[in-house]
Amino acid sequence: MCGIVGYIGEQNATPIILNGLKRLEYRGYDSAGLAVLENGHIEVRRDAGKLEKLSALVQANPVSGKLGIGHTRWATHGEPSARNAHPHMGQTGEVVVVHNGIVENYLELREELTAEGVPFTSDTDTECIVHLIEGFLSVEGGLVEAVRRSLQRLQGAHGVVVFSSREPDKIVAARIGNAGGVVVGLGQGENYVASDIPAILEHTRQMVFLESQQMAVVTRADVQVMTLDGQPVEVKVNTINWDPISAEKGEYRHFMQKEIHEQVRSLTDTLAGRVDFDNGRITLAQLNVDAENARRIKKIFITACGTAAYAGQVGKVLIEDIARIPVEVDIASEFRYRDPIVDEDTVVLAISQSGETADTLAAMEEGRRKGATLWSIVNAIGSQAMRLADGYISMQTGPEIGVASTKAFTAPLVDLYMLAVYLADLRGVIDENRRYELVQDLRLVPALVGKALEKEPEVLQVAREMKYIRNALYLGRGINMPIAYEGALKLKEISYIHAEAYPAGEMKHGPIALVDRDMPVIALALKDPWYEKMISQIEQAKARGGAVVAVATEGDERVAGLADEVFWVPETPWRLSPVVSVIPLQLFAYHIASLKGLDVDQPRNLAKSVTVE
Ligand code: G6P
Repeated sequence: MCGIVGYIGEQNATPIILNGLKRLEYRGYDSAGLAVLENGHIEVRRDAGKLEKLSALVQANPVSGKLGIGHTRWATHGEPSARNAHPHMGQTGEVVVVHNGIVENYLELREELTAEGVPFTSDTDTECIVHLIEGFLSVEGGLVEAVRRSLQRLQGAHGVVVFSSREPDKIVAARIGNAGGVVVGLGQGENYVASDIPAILEHTRQMVFLESQQMAVVTRADVQVMTLDGQPVEVKVNTINWDPISAEKGEYRHFMQKEIHEQVRSLTDTLAGRVDFDNGRITLAQLNVDAENARRIKKIFITACGTAAYAGQVGKVLIEDIARIPVEVDIASEFRYRDPIVDEDTVVLAISQSGETADTLAAMEEGRRKGATLWSIVNAIGSQAMRLADGYISMQTGPEIGVASTKAFTAPLVDLYMLAVYLADLRGVIDENRRYELVQDLRLVPALVGKALEKEPEVLQVAREMKYIRNALYLGRGINMPIAYEGALKLKEISYIHAEAYPAGEMKHGPIALVDRDMPVIALALKDPWYEKMISQIEQAKARGGAVVAVATEGDERVAGLADEVFWVPETPWRLSPVVSVIPLQLFAYHIASLKGLDVDQPRNLAKSVTVE
């Protein structure tokens, strides 16, 4: 989804913007552009396509200056093309805007502006914003006041960054609602603006996050934050500890492969500081919950999108089993419009890698409106899902660049396990021995994931044999049922192969009709409480001539005798088995896509952070 970078200082803004946009490529985009103030006037370069194209444009027709903004666009209104790419300039050429989000009332605004004689040069909703600002530019208060008044006319959620050649000493940035973040990075005699931390992390670690309905006036020397009503807001500076190097590919071909391998480390970090192995205790301090709050909980709604929602389904099994609290998992885009039955004794738990997914944030707001306690499990530090929540668990994975989520899937699985044990403890529903045992099992996780990763060559071999498949059916039961869904999602996202997932018990109610040699069945048959049931599903698939690839526990002769291929994983306590069983499925999807020469890290039509509905 759209990315924004801005710079004001003594250096040339152009390379800083291009570099920053490069760091945001992972979000997914279809056009890119920049605007720089050169000798007092605004120069724009923009085009459809990847950043290389923008760089080539800049090389052919160089532009430099000490103030500039850039944007990667993910088309919503109007096709990807040069005229629809951001930045958008007004008719006087004195104001330029980049924007994330959707102007919901843009048709009305466009009609109004057209009636006033304003010429539109693009199909975008964004162009309204720059014309509105231009219209107000001569009011008292200049650019800041013009932006403020213009934003008040917009419906929907927005991140907006603007500058004007009339006031060449500032960038104005604003955030309304949840269309992605706006971050201001603080330097020495220079400052930065971005939609996301990685865009500017190589320059500064001191960052200010804008809340909804806030705007920032950023000059070389200073940052002022105010509400859209003009009330000053105290500037709170956050220090970001992410290592910029960890956002590089390193020895791997793709970020996704690197991130799959980083799971040993991210899971070690996930446990650090939260697990007391000596006393068999979990502490989740940032959740802000005590025994009294924990005992009041009657129900938990887990709400999320995509991969995060599948993590939530594993969480349901864990929380119900260990903490004995009823859990419902709801896709965020459904939850937000369903008028769910939620009250003060309900927890709405959002799971989100980016912490900026529009549907997930709206689901949280729905929970808030109904008086629920809001929790979140989030990767992006300082993101909206973290700030909206009453309490949170921060995934310790570092930035995830590949659009297809991997390490930000396994971390929340472990977070949810810890949450289940923690809640059970606070509510007094498990005795000390059981709690101690459950906690000890966590110690094994990073090493077990490491062992599953060692099998990459075998998975690659199967991927080579199967790279031409057109369809696949993934089956699982119980705690590994969501892993079937996650495995199928990974395959379709990056290899564009049609893959469906089913709870294996449902196979007989329809999907079995599809099974033949051309429809491989990928079956999760771990030694968990659903093992026997899975074996009989595999037998049924084999009886219909299906080719079966099983994910199975090392040494399992029965599965070895039944399946055509086996992805072996080490024996793991069943409640934690999803963390291990998903590994070969991540690798399988990765290698198929990579063997096909596809753009693994930025699959077509997908975005890392979906900040529109
Ligand atoms: C997008 C990504 C998915 C991700 C989903 C939720 O669709 O392509 O990989 O699972 O958003 O993202 P979140 O940041 O909320 O976890």
